[in-house]
Order: sequence, then structure tokens, then C-alpha cells
Amino acid sequence: MNHFLDIHLTDPSDLRQIIDNAAAMKTARAGRPRGALDDDQPLKDRMVALIFEKPSTRTRVSFDVGVRQMGGQTMVLSGSDMQLGHGETIADTARVLSRYVDLIMIRTFDEAVLTEMAEFASVPVVNGLTDRTHPCQIMADVQTFEEHRGPIKGKKVVWSGDGNNVCASFLHAAGQFGFDLTFTGPPTLDPEREFVDLARSKGVKVEIERDPAKAVAGADLVVTDTWVSMHDAQSAKERRHNQLRPYRVDSALMSRAKSDALFMHCLPAHRDDEVTSEVMDGPNSVIFDEAENRLHAQKAILRWCLQV
Ligand code: CP
Ligand code: NVA
Repeated sequence: MNHFLDIHLTDPSDLRQIIDNAAAMKTARAGRPRGALDDDQPLKDRMVALIFEKPSTRTRVSFDVGVRQMGGQTMVLSGSDMQLGHGETIADTARVLSRYVDLIMIRTFDEAVLTEMAEFASVPVVNGLTDRTHPCQIMADVQTFEEHRGPIKGKKVVWSGDGNNVCASFLHAAGQFGFDLTFTGPPTLDPEREFVDLARSKGVKVEIERDPAKAVAGADLVVTDTWVSMHDAQSAKERRHNQLRPYRVDSALMSRAKSDALFMHCLPAHRDDEVTSEVMDGPNSVIFDEAENRLHAQKAILRWCLQV
């Protein structure tokens, strides 16, 4: 069963095939209206459930559109409207849904919900973000980097800010795709040690540098994300903002990276908190290509899951 649960759980050769396939599918439909079907219809007769226990714009729309372009059908389900949100077990939900649909994509809080869904489903399960990781996002990010700058292998990526779920998937990708990653942020918001150690065990350089100006020296890509994630307590907002303000990505920080360094943000962004509008809308920013590539990368992920 090809579940897509996390980047470090997927074979590097499969990850490479997914990225190359995503790029090829993007090229193949360039210039067509968004609603036009692809020439191939690999998801013909397939039904996909998209479950959201947290808000979403990109994940929700890009999966829905992607499945339709490939000839499949979707149903978007809100966790709170399902019996899942009212006491039915994850295992029973997984077994029931597997009788109706061909694939389940879920965005949830606790990673255990995702892994239990995968354990009991008899169809592939895709991780659409948990409190711990966001693998579909980083597949789109790798595609985006390579589209602009060629192979990501051997490059230097700098993550500035909160060592959160998106940062975790970047660390997983560093190990699998072979790029170096420097984290810069306050010690209390470091990425999980387990993720850092895993990347290092695969032979890539992972550095923790408290000084953001030093961290970005020589960077090929600078990335940040919101300072308060959906699973973080709103009561922590003010403290987090105070801790993270020195790690805001602004033009002065970008000017210390390589002159052709790209800027990425998974979005949604809080303009002028974690990144200035000047950087977001500046010449090095590829944030909207990144958002578009969620569509192409996820279509390739779905094809890999279903082997179609
Ligand atoms: N980047 C991302 O996953 O966006 P959404 O929360 O809008 O899906
Ligand atoms: N770190 C953010 C990513 C949103 C796509 C969150 O989990 O809220």
C-alpha cells in the first residue's frame, strides 16, 4: 500500500519520480484553463475523500482541482461534521471510508490520527498536514526550487523562525534529497531533535545558528512560516512574536544570502510579521509558484499512491 505519510517514510527514488512526474504534468497542461481535463485520465472512476479537521485554502482547493483534472471525483469532508468528531473511532472510520472511496487525504492535529487511519484503511492515505509535519507542501517546494534553480541536491536552505511542522518536513526532505539546512530561531522553538538527527544520519549538514545574519550567508533558499501555527495556543501569540521578531525575513536579511537566493513561504503569511511585504513581493520570491505547485506535486503524489 503506497501511503504518503511523510517524506522520510518514502523512498528517495519514489520521491524523485514524483517530482519529475509533477514537472512533466505541469508542462503538459501549460496554458490550459484550470478546469480543463488532462490528456491522461489516470483517476477516471476513482473517488477521493478530502478530510479537514483544520482550516485550509491551498490544500483543499489544489487537491480538489487536481483530482478533477485527472478525471476523478472528490468529496470534501469537515472532521467536525463527521462522526469522527463525535466519538466514532479512527479505525472504524478508516474501515468504513475504505468501502466507499479509493484514497483518503486527511489534515488533522495529532499525527496518531493519520497513522491510525493508514493502519486501518485498505486504501492509500495522504498526509495533508499534522501538528508535526506537512510533506505535500515540501514536495511542492522542492519542485519549485528545481524549476527555478535546477537540482536541489547540495544546496543550502535556511529556515528562519519557528521550528514547526513545515520546518520538520524540510528536514526530512534535506535527508532524502541531499541538501543542507540551517535553522535559525530561538532555542525554545528549535525543530525536534529527532528530525535534526535523522537528517544528519543521512549525511547532510544541519546547523543551528542563533544569529540570522550569519545563518543566511551563502543560502540558496530562505524559508519562513507563520509564527503561530494552527495547533499553537493563541495565548502564546504575544510571547512568540517577541521571541521571533529578530528572525523576520526582510530585505536586509535577504541581502546576506546569495544574490540569486529564492524566498519561499508555504502561506498563509502574516505580512510584516514573519516576512516583510517587500520580500514577499520582491524579485527573489517564488511564493505563488510554490502555491501553484501544490497542485502539480499532489497530482503526482496521488498517481504514485494509486500506481496509475
Ligand atoms: N500551505 C498550506 O497548506 O495552505 P492551506 O492551509 O491554505 O492549505
Ligand atoms: N505551520 C502552519 C502551516 C500552515 C499551512 C500551521 O500548521 O498552521
